[in-house]
Amino acid sequence: MPAIAVLTSGGDAPGMNAAIRSVTKVAASRGVTVWGVEMGYDGLIDGKFRPLTRQNAKTASLAPVGEMEAMGSLGGTILGSSRCPRFHTREGRAEAVSKMVGYSIEGLIVIGGNGSLAGAHALAGEATVPVIGIPASIDNDIGLSREALGVDTALNTIIDACDRITDTARSHHRAFIVEVMGRHSGYLAMAAAVATAADAVLLPEQRRNRDEVVKAVTECIVQSFGRARDKNRVLIIKAEGVGIPTHELLEEVGRALPADQSIEVRGTVLGHLVRGGNPSFRDRLLAGRFGLVAVDAVLAGKTDRMVGWNLTETGEPTSDSWIRLFPIAQVLEETKALLDGSSAVTIDRVRRMEAIQGVLSL
Ligand code: F6P
Repeated sequence: MPAIAVLTSGGDAPGMNAAIRSVTKVAASRGVTVWGVEMGYDGLIDGKFRPLTRQNAKTASLAPVGEMEAMGSLGGTILGSSRCPRFHTREGRAEAVSKMVGYSIEGLIVIGGNGSLAGAHALAGEATVPVIGIPASIDNDIGLSREALGVDTALNTIIDACDRITDTARSHHRAFIVEVMGRHSGYLAMAAAVATAADAVLLPEQRRNRDEVVKAVTECIVQSFGRARDKNRVLIIKAEGVGIPTHELLEEVGRALPADQSIEVRGTVLGHLVRGGNPSFRDRLLAGRFGLVAVDAVLAGKTDRMVGWNLTETGEPTSDSWIRLFPIAQVLEETKALLDGSSAVTIDRVRRMEAIQGVLSL
């Protein structure tokens, strides 16, 4: 029976387990064995493989919950994950290739974000077996997929946290700055700001310097609590990638606010809280659909491609009208453009956020 392997790599994201489940079940239905690789590329180099079957995906680290069906609804990744510097070297990748040969593995599915896809691209150039990527990262900074696995769940967590913060903010007539993860991408902050009707959003893509950020926040707070708007809470969402730590921003804004108005400002950094939790319906749905297309791509001998949720005519069509296949090199190029601001997607997002700035603060 032919065998393929699956691994999760980089920051975990809700939906990774649902994707592992999908890969395992689809492969089983095609008569293919699946090896789960533990701890990402580290496990590939060290040959840490264990069989995943439709009936049983038991893991030592997660003893009581073993059933494949149940595990898909869990957050994190049951295979474990890592960021693996050894995989950046040709020697490390050669070791991984020889381990796959030793286990007669005929294809690899990599579930992860930018760094993981860069690893998959390098490996695809050196391995003789197909390598296919599934985008998974709460940051939503992966090119050519409208969303990566984990984004929807992370946003649901953020809006829940902001609703709770709003309860207490409103009670005390306070301003809150809520920082959300996203590394260099402001997507989570942007989307959450719209969904929570925040008063302002701070994004790395705006490329504002420190003084401009402090000024924008101070003005927003003063105007929102001022007579014309008379708000009873101010909510400002700040992306992690904005170049001023939240505690310093709070101090500087505190100094800049008019002393006679006794405005109270608090900050909350949501951090890793946003990365955990059971995957939402949409992340499970996407995981199921990505998994199916990824397995069929590997079995068709396609390599160095990523499955992407993309409704345009670009890329290669698949059996799923939502999902298309893209060369990973093209994905990495678009990812770079997303982050350096030159992508049409980033330009459009920033333009739309600027267009609603006045609306957000009303
Ligand atoms: O890429 C996902 C992410 O959660 C980023 O949003 C964040 O900057 C980073 O990973 C945190 O990494 P770590 O878990 O290694 O601290």
